Amino acid sequence: MASEFASQLNLTEKSRMVTGTLAIGAGSSCIGNILPIERVGFSGWCMQDGPNGVNLADLTSAFPSGLSAGASWNKDMMYQRGVAMGQEFRAKGIEVALGPSAGPLGRHALGGRNWEGFSVDPYLSGIAIAATIRGIQSNGVQACAKHIVGNEQETQRSYSILDDGTRVEGISSNIDDRTLHELYMWPFADAVKAGVASAMCSYNRLNQTYACENDALLNGILRDELGFRGFVVSDWFATHSGAKSINAGLDLNMPGALSAEHMQTGASYWGAYITVMVEDGSITEDRVDQMITRIMTPYFYFGQDRPDYPPVDRSMEYTFAAWSNVLDLLPSPPPPTRDVRGDHARLIRKLAAEATVLLKNVNATLPLKSPLNIGVFGNDAADPSQGLVVMRQSEVGTLPLGGGAGTVRHSYIVSPIEAIKARAKTIGARVQHILQNSVIAAGDFSSIYPIPDVCLVFLNTYAGEVQDRPSYEADWNSTLVVENVARKCPNTIVITHSASINSMPWANNPSVKAILAAHLPGHESGNSIVDVLWGDVNPSGHLPYPIAKDPKDYDIPIVNLTASEVTSPNAWQADFTEGQLIDYRRLDAEGIEPLFEFGFGLSYTTFTMEETLKVQTLSRRLTPKPNASLGVQQGGNPDLWTPIVRVTTRISNSGSKRGSAVPQLYASLPRNSTPAGTPEKVLRGFDKVLLEHGESRAVEFELLRRDLSYWDTVSQQWVLPKGEIGLKVGFSSRDIRAEAVVELPLDR
Ligand code: NOJ
Repeated sequence: MASEFASQLNLTEKSRMVTGTLAIGAGSSCIGNILPIERVGFSGWCMQDGPNGVNLADLTSAFPSGLSAGASWNKDMMYQRGVAMGQEFRAKGIEVALGPSAGPLGRHALGGRNWEGFSVDPYLSGIAIAATIRGIQSNGVQACAKHIVGNEQETQRSYSILDDGTRVEGISSNIDDRTLHELYMWPFADAVKAGVASAMCSYNRLNQTYACENDALLNGILRDELGFRGFVVSDWFATHSGAKSINAGLDLNMPGALSAEHMQTGASYWGAYITVMVEDGSITEDRVDQMITRIMTPYFYFGQDRPDYPPVDRSMEYTFAAWSNVLDLLPSPPPPTRDVRGDHARLIRKLAAEATVLLKNVNATLPLKSPLNIGVFGNDAADPSQGLVVMRQSEVGTLPLGGGAGTVRHSYIVSPIEAIKARAKTIGARVQHILQNSVIAAGDFSSIYPIPDVCLVFLNTYAGEVQDRPSYEADWNSTLVVENVARKCPNTIVITHSASINSMPWANNPSVKAILAAHLPGHESGNSIVDVLWGDVNPSGHLPYPIAKDPKDYDIPIVNLTASEVTSPNAWQADFTEGQLIDYRRLDAEGIEPLFEFGFGLSYTTFTMEETLKVQTLSRRLTPKPNASLGVQQGGNPDLWTPIVRVTTRISNSGSKRGSAVPQLYASLPRNSTPAGTPEKVLRGFDKVLLEHGESRAVEFELLRRDLSYWDTVSQQWVLPKGEIGLKVGFSSRDIRAEAVVELPLDR
C-alpha cells in the first residue's frame, strides 16, 4: 500500500512528502507537518511533542515525567501511561507522538533532559520505553523513539555561528562500539523490538559525524543490525546536508527548513533540491520512494488513512501561536478546542504517588499521624506564579514537569499547598506557610506560631531543553531553606520535585525525619503527594539513579568551552572514555558508598526475601553467539530475546501494612572471559509485587540471551561469556538478599 502510494506521486509531491513544514498561519497545526496532497487523497499529517503528553495544545493532560515512570518500576503502569497518552494524541488527530525518550540516558547527572527519559540504567530504560511505545501505539498512534544517539548534554548540542560568521560544529559524542551497544543503544533495541514506528536522530555528532547523516548509525546499527522497519525523522533543524543525509538513512527532514531563521522562506537542504539531487544522480528516485514507503507504512498499518481517525484539532495552531506570542497573526475566532483529558487525572495521581521514593523515614514519621498544626515551607509548594506553561525556573511555584519539548501546557496544576489545605480542612488542622525561599533563607519565621507539629519543606530543581543544570543542589537556596526550617522544627520532612539527581547535604540532619523524592509528577502533583504523606498510598518508588554522598563521586563534567577554547570548528569533543562506568557502575567500580543507592526505596511496611535462589538453565546446550540462521527481525537477531535462565525467589511482606516491593536482579558477568570495562554488576530483571501484610509470593526472573551477553567488537556480535555468572537478587543495588552463580552450558 505504502509503495503504491509512493508510485502515484510526481517528484515535486515526493519532495513534499519527505520535507516537513512548520509555519504558523499556513495551515500547519503542529510542531511538524506533512502538507496534504489532495490529488491522491492524502490529508497530510501532524507530529506533536512529546514524551509526557501532548504539548502545545489546550485541554490535554500533563502526565508524570518519564523519570517518574522510571521511578515507579511498575511495568504495567508504564504501559497504562502510554495508553492514556496515546488516547490523547489520537483524540487530537495527531499521527505521530514525538516520544518516548531514552536519549539522553543520563551520562551527566546535570544533563538538561534526563527527566524526559526513564532512567540512567539501560535495562530499566529499555523496559520502560518498550512498554510506553506499546501503550501509545495500541491506540493506532505512531510513537517516535528519540534521540538516537549520544545527545547527553544540551550545551552545544548543535552547531553555532560565531560573530565573525565561522560555523562551529555541535558536540561530538565519541563513544566506543561496546559502550554504544551495551549502554546507549540498548534501550533503543527494546524500542525497535516493541515495533516503534519512527525514530528521531539527535542533534549531536556521533564519532565526528552528525547523527542525522551517520550511515554507520542509521543504516548500519539501526536498520541492518536492529531490524528497524519504520522511518527515521531528524530532530528539528538537525539535517545538515542533502544527499549525504538521505543516503545515510534519514527518511524525513523536520521541519524541513535549514534553521529556525529560514522557516518563513522554507529554504532547505531538501525540498526542491530533491529533484536536483535525483537529476544529478547524487540520490536515486528509488531511495526517495523507499523513504516515502517507510513513512507511509505505519500510517496505513495503523489505519490513520481511515475516516474514523480524528481530524487534527485546529486549535493547536492557536495554542502554538499563543506560546510563540504571535496569536495576532491568526484570524478570530479560534476554532473550538477538543478536550481530550478523559479521566486520566486518576491515573496521573496514582502513578505519581506510586513513583514517589521514600528515602528516609526515622521513627516511622510517615505516614502522618493526623497533625493538627501543619507547617508548609518552600517555593515548590506554591501555585505557579508565572503561568501554567512551565518553561523556565520560576521563583515561586511548584514544578510538575521540566521545560522544552517535554513539557505540557497545563490546563491546571494542583499545587502541594492547595492539596494540603484541602486535606487539612477535612481534619480540622491549621496550615501555616511561608512559600518564598528568600524569607526562609533570611531566617524570618516571625509569622510562625506555635511551631508546627510537622514542617513540610518543598524544594524543586528545574531543568529543560537547550541548557544543562548548573548544580546538583536543589534550586533557590534550598540548603539554607532546609537548615533554617530544621533549626525551628524538630519534625521536618523534605519533599523534592526535581528533574534529576540532587545532592542532599541536609539528609543526615537529625531534625530531617523523612525525605521523599517525588520527581516531576505531572498536574495532579499536590494530590499525589498528599496521598503519600497521609498514607492513603504506601510509597513504592525506587531510585532510577544513585545519589552519591559527594557529586564528585560520579560526576562527569559537561563539556563547556569558553570562547578562547574554541580554536577550531571541531573543538567540541566529548570522549566517553569511562565506557560503561557511569552511575552505579562507577560507584561499584571504585568501591564508593553512596548516600542512597540505585534501586533504593523505603515503604511503610517491610519485606523479606528467601536467602536461596532457584536457578534453572533453560537449554541443554547454548552456542556462544545467537543463531545466525534466524536472520534479523525487529530488535535484531530474535535469538537474542530467547529466555536462557530462570531465577526464582520468594518474598514476603513482614510488616503491618499492605505495600509493593520491587525485587531486583543484578548479573555479574565473569571478568576473566569478558573484555576490560565489564561493570561489576548490571540490572537484568525487576518486578513490582503488591503484598498484603503477612503475604508471601514467588517471584520469577527470566533472563534473555542478550541479558547475559557482552558485545564483542571483533566479531560484531553479542557473545555469552564462559565461566561463572553471578546472580544477585535484592531490594536495591546494594541491598542484596540472595546470591547464586550459573555457568552456561556453552558449545565451544
Ligand atoms: C527538538 C527536541 O530535541 C525534540 O525532542 C522535539 O521533538 C523537537 N524539537 C520538536 O519539538
